[in-house]
Amino acid sequence: MPELAEILEALPLPALAVDRRDRLVAANAAALALLTAGSVGRPLALAIRAADLLAGVAEVMAGAPARDLRLRLGRDGAEHVFAVTLAGLGEGEGRQVLVTFRDTSAEEVAEAMRRDFVANVSHELRTPLTALLGFIETLQGPAREDPAARERFLATMAREAGRMNRLVRDLLQLSRVEAEERVRPREPVDLLGVLASVRATLRPVAEGLGSEVRIEAPEGRVTVPGDHDQLVQVFSNLIENGLKYGAAGQAVRVTVRREASLRGPAVRVEVADRGEGIDPVHLPRLTERFYRVDSHRSREKGGTGLGLAIVKHIVARHRGWLRIESVKGEGSTFIVILPEG
Ligand SMILES: Nc1ncnc2c1ncn2[C@@H]1O[C@H](COP(=O)(O)OP(=O)(O)O)[C@@H](O)[C@H]1O
Ligand SMILES: [Mg+2]
Repeated sequence: MPELAEILEALPLPALAVDRRDRLVAANAAALALLTAGSVGRPLALAIRAADLLAGVAEVMAGAPARDLRLRLGRDGAEHVFAVTLAGLGEGEGRQVLVTFRDTSAEEVAEAMRRDFVANVSHELRTPLTALLGFIETLQGPAREDPAARERFLATMAREAGRMNRLVRDLLQLSRVEAEERVRPREPVDLLGVLASVRATLRPVAEGLGSEVRIEAPEGRVTVPGDHDQLVQVFSNLIENGLKYGAAGQAVRVTVRREASLRGPAVRVEVADRGEGIDPVHLPRLTERFYRVDSHRSREKGGTGLGLAIVKHIVARHRGWLRIESVKGEGSTFIVILPEG
């Protein structure tokens, strides 16, 4: 029969056992890492400061059925949440209680993110929907016979419906990219062709702002393995942001260069604007869904707050890197590095 300590060491979770006198009789290395001053042979109460846990152990020792509890403990300097299971082993004087710990922090974070996401989507859809409902009511009532008001309201309604449409389009795009993220796309994509077509599509936007998009690229073709439509998405989002958040009348510069990356030859595309720039405090969160520096401004410009989240996922799917460099008051540069092989 193997020793208890040996069995605990073989478990994939932190686990320890306590005897009738509340002493730690065995603990695997993962459990010892959770204990403050614990060592085998000493009382559990000295090893872990958690009144609930000690009370639970006492009850199970006295014969209560196995039970679960939640416990917050520090680990590597951060607080983690554990699902702890207490189970009695054996009877009488030799009875022990086996305590196992499962770290559920990552699950809780994922669950909180999911809840936030649903709340954000609902809020983002509700705002234009409320506006639409209001205008419909006005058109059915007070503005019924007023052709000038009708025209004005219909124009606003079209704008709000367009906003909802873009939001749904971006949400679908995001979920599609996330679902495919593990499959690296491999069709050869003509990158300069992608950039030229994005520039053509965005020309009216650029002209409306008195700006332009300038592309600087090496001679000849630049081909990367990828998904053509998704790379169009990446550069439309980045160039459109450069135009929207850049200074009016200032060009957005797109530079393409070959370079050596950690994983072999790669293509580096920089999209640089001379706009207001981004405060460094925002940079780490900028690619989160719905994160905006100025929500009012983003909405006013027709943004959904999902563009950079989509960009990040597409670049990850291409096994590339996205870097953001920005100096407040001077402008921002979004750098995409795509492996050539
Ligand atoms: N080139 C840029 N210059 C300054 N701020 C930017 C730039 N690109 C993005 N941002 C900031 O990042 C936020 C998120 O961008 P994005 O995900 O594309 O959403 P959207 O453009 O729909 O607001 C924007 O709301 C803006 O605050
Ligand atoms: Mg955007």
